[in-house]
Amino acid sequence: MQKLPWLSRFSLYLAPMAGVSDVVFRTLCREEGADVTETEFVSAEGVLQAWERTKRYVQLSGKDRPVGVQLFGAHPEHMAQAARLIADAVQPDFLDINFGCPVPKVVGKNGGSSLLKNLPLLGEIARAVVSELGEDCPVTAKMRLGWDAQSICAPEACQRLEDAGVRAIAIHGRTRSQQYGGTADWDAIHDCASRIAIPIIGNGDIRSPQDVQRERDAGVVAGVMIGRAAMQSPWIFRRARQLLSTGQLPPEPDAAERVHFMLRHVRLTIEQGLYGDETGAMRTMRARLLAYAKGIPGSKALRPELARVSSMAQLEALAEQMLGR
Ligand SMILES: Cc1cc2nc3c(=O)[nH]c(=O)nc-3n(C[C@H](O)[C@H](O)[C@H](O)COP(=O)(O)O)c2cc1C
Repeated sequence: MQKLPWLSRFSLYLAPMAGVSDVVFRTLCREEGADVTETEFVSAEGVLQAWERTKRYVQLSGKDRPVGVQLFGAHPEHMAQAARLIADAVQPDFLDINFGCPVPKVVGKNGGSSLLKNLPLLGEIARAVVSELGEDCPVTAKMRLGWDAQSICAPEACQRLEDAGVRAIAIHGRTRSQQYGGTADWDAIHDCASRIAIPIIGNGDIRSPQDVQRERDAGVVAGVMIGRAAMQSPWIFRRARQLLSTGQLPPEPDAAERVHFMLRHVRLTIEQGLYGDETGAMRTMRARLLAYAKGIPGSKALRPELARVSSMAQLEALAEQMLGR
């Protein structure tokens, strides 16, 4: 089976994150050196029953490629139909199946990580999507280690996914019951990677370029996927790539560069109109502004105002204060 083209080198993936990995952020992260991006998850049922409402989540820019669209669901046939609709409508570089989401809304409908409790169905879903898409679009998967510590099933799940024709698997090194607690178990990720032939992308708690280098040097996974660290520091991809290729770690961006990045992110989000008008965009961006501000010296006192900001003009005034003007 031919390798996915971006896996010809150790790949840096932007993680799919609901409410975060939108088309603007994916494009910015590509500019900052991410090799691959992914949309947040969309529900197969939503795609099939309410495409007009759902399609904005799978809008691709062209500048965010290679990009995967992530899909979740519990019915093989519906997953295959939704995958076909997406592949025809937006031509993603790959279609990723979510077997890791822990949130009750998804698990309650037997999607996401609940499929780790039913591996025959997990395999059936993957097989149905792979067979529907054929040569048109490669299929990948993202999963956790298992439902809980007593039911670790990642090695068996990986084998079933490989047998179904899945081309790569991202493993978040936690169980569903851990949610985001504890630390990701990279030994367990390595164990899976050493047992199967298809590439494994490691995920969980990559916080610095040095963490990326640790995994590249270990030589077990084909790449790493970065989520929360990229929300605060999207330049982690560029700094990590430079560390991997030259052995030199570039400095963190200074306060002015961070502020300008933040402002550009917000302006592009407003322009894109993904979240309605300027007020809607500002409301959606508040959590993101707080994440950016964490890295800006002296910005602590401005956090309450950032948490309430409702216009670009207000944000620009706060930015002036962050820059000490
Ligand atoms: C706000 C947020 C939203 C997320 N949404 C998704 C999602 O839509 N699909 C998915 O597979 N994982 C989702 N995740 C999980 C991340 O992709 C990733 O597996 C997890 O954050 C661990 O990686 P990290 O330690 O680098 O953050 C989400 C995580 C966060 C923090």
